[in-house]
Amino acid sequence: MKLTLKIWRQDNAKAKGKLVSYDLSDLSLDMSFLEMLDVLNEELAVKGERVVEFDHDCREGICGQCSLVINGQAHGPEGPLYNLSNPLAFF
Ligand code: FES
Repeated sequence: MKLTLKIWRQDNAKAKGKLVSYDLSDLSLDMSFLEMLDVLNEELAVKGERVVEFDHDCREGICGQCSLVINGQAHGPEGPLYNLSNPLAFF
C-alpha cells in the first residue's frame, strides 16, 4: 500500500512552519499508524533529515498518549472509536 502523509513541520513556536508531503510505499495493512511513522522516521534518518517526533507509550490503545490529528480530526478516547495502534486497514 502507498500513502502520502502531509505533516506540519515547525522547528519551534516562533519558526515559520509548513506542510511537508512524504510518500511512503510498501506499507502493510496490518501495520499500525505508529509503525507507519516508524517507517517514515527510518527513511528520514537514513537521509539525514529531521525525524517526525511523536509521543507513545503502550502502543496498545490503552494509555491514550499517541493521540494525533488525522485529516483534521483529533483521535483519542472520546473521539473516533479507533486509535493509532489499530492497523492501517482500520483507517
Ligand atoms: S501509545 Fe498508548 S494508546 Fe497509543
